[in-house]
Amino acid sequence: MKVLGILGSPRIGGNSDILLEQALAGAKDAGAEVEKIVLSKKKIAGCLDCGKCNDTGVCAIKDDMLEIHKKILEADVVIHSVPVYFWAMTSQMKAYLDRWCAFFDAQWRVHKAYRPKMKVKRIGLITLCGDPNVFTADPIVHSFKNTCQFAGLNLLEVVQASAGAKGEIANNEAVKKRAYDLGRKSVK
Ligand SMILES: Cc1cc2nc3c(=O)[nH]c(=O)nc-3n(C[C@H](O)[C@H](O)[C@H](O)COP(=O)(O)O)c2cc1C
Repeated sequence: MKVLGILGSPRIGGNSDILLEQALAGAKDAGAEVEKIVLSKKKIAGCLDCGKCNDTGVCAIKDDMLEIHKKILEADVVIHSVPVYFWAMTSQMKAYLDRWCAFFDAQWRVHKAYRPKMKVKRIGLITLCGDPNVFTADPIVHSFKNTCQFAGLNLLEVVQASAGAKGEIANNEAVKKRAYDLGRKSVK
């Protein structure tokens, strides 16, 4: 059982990172092999809509996303943690998500070769925002919910939290437990 954590914040040790670590700790305690990818440390260009992946299932842009595509396909669970930047997901997370294009064919169906792996995959999402209203991050939830529905992926319970200063979320035991439980329960 493999659980992949995707950090969409460039702030290492920040709020999204702390909650992602909680989720990965939960998954590890449940017996999973875990790995974390920090998107801001990777070279991930935006999708060019060149269409080459429509036939091949392999992205034509030769950057770090090629390796991440493989890791997503291999993982049983992929847990994302990302803050709101100007009422949307961070640019790092958006570039990553747009590159999911490679999983689809010209009819926007998941490539046949990927279907067995994709349909059993579970997706986790943790959102952060500075606004005390956690639902300010709903545009991110909307994006992931629709993407998962479109790709036939199972979206697990979404954890939404509010914090501003770096590491502030460490004081919020309730949401840390929710993130831990997300990771633990994602392992079946
Ligand atoms: C460029 C930028 C834009 C932001 N835009 C918003 C926003 O639109 N709404 C909001 O509630 N918080 C916003 N924030 C605050 C972050 O979402 C908040 O500080 C969050 O805890 C950061 O998570 P991190 O520690 O994982 O990086 C913004 C922060 C930055 C740096």
